[in-house]
Amino acid sequence: MSKPKVLISRRWPAAVEAKLQQLFDTTLNSDDRPLNADEFRLALQNYDAVCPSVCDALPAEVLNVANKRCRILGNFGVGYNHIDIAAARAQDLVVTNTPGVLTESTADIAMTLLLMTARRGAEGDRLVRSGQWRGWCPTHMMSSDVTGATLGLIGFGRIAQAMARKAHHGFGMKILYVKPSPADPEIVADLQAVRCETVEELLPQCDFVSLHCPGGADTRHLIDERRLNLMKPSAHLINTARGDVVDSKALIRALREKRIAGAGLDVYEGEPHLDPGFLELENAALLPHLGSATIATRTAMGERVLANLQAFFAGQAVPDRVV
Ligand code: DGY
Repeated sequence: MSKPKVLISRRWPAAVEAKLQQLFDTTLNSDDRPLNADEFRLALQNYDAVCPSVCDALPAEVLNVANKRCRILGNFGVGYNHIDIAAARAQDLVVTNTPGVLTESTADIAMTLLLMTARRGAEGDRLVRSGQWRGWCPTHMMSSDVTGATLGLIGFGRIAQAMARKAHHGFGMKILYVKPSPADPEIVADLQAVRCETVEELLPQCDFVSLHCPGGADTRHLIDERRLNLMKPSAHLINTARGDVVDSKALIRALREKRIAGAGLDVYEGEPHLDPGFLELENAALLPHLGSATIATRTAMGERVLANLQAFFAGQAVPDRVV
């Protein structure tokens, strides 16, 4: 029997690519160039499985292509807001993601950004490199304490909870969270976490606000001008979720006018083409979507896609099926 034809949209860790090649008739993307909409349409017509990554847009106009051969989209990533899920469902396409395996590494990056923005890490690095540092002095680059400060989490899923553990047990931070329903009482007790009913209730109480909600239409510009104005002028915003959860223009204005103290960002509206306004801000620490970018995590993500494809083609229940 011939092996299923599988297309991988970008380079994956070599160990997983090798396994994919053993198991399936796999086409790799050896030059790692992002595919365009027409190339995805062609892929859907010629492969049994297409494996996009989180920055490959798959709107209805692409998924609705005629003469489709593809039956499963094995997404390399936990977020799937780049795939039109309603269109996938209507087209009987199975969609899978990679939950669980990137929790700790993404929470680590959220903590990294929190520390960078609080302690002006990126700014300090730029200063040293520029040759302009004039030496230690008592008032130079003073910043905000992290230990003992209050962290507010918007969304309280796996990654938010992992960040809360690091912040509370590592840095003695007080934890507030917003979530539609109360979290598991054991987790709440361990973190001494306090639930807020609304984002409006949480924002004015926090020294740091970290975003952990999914992207998509429901959360687009959840953090807008009005909500930024509810934050303390000394507070910092951390975003490792999705760029469009924050209104970029409003955030740039708030940072420029010092209505909030700083931001640590891993994701951007329209990334990698972020608003150039961010580049001029000393009080923004900017990372290039590194949340899950450790060797072990990216390998585990690939393994997870592989397990989903194997189950699907063996006619078994698909572990990480979202549609
Ligand atoms: C995901 O998996 O959704 C992450 O954004 C990748 O880092």
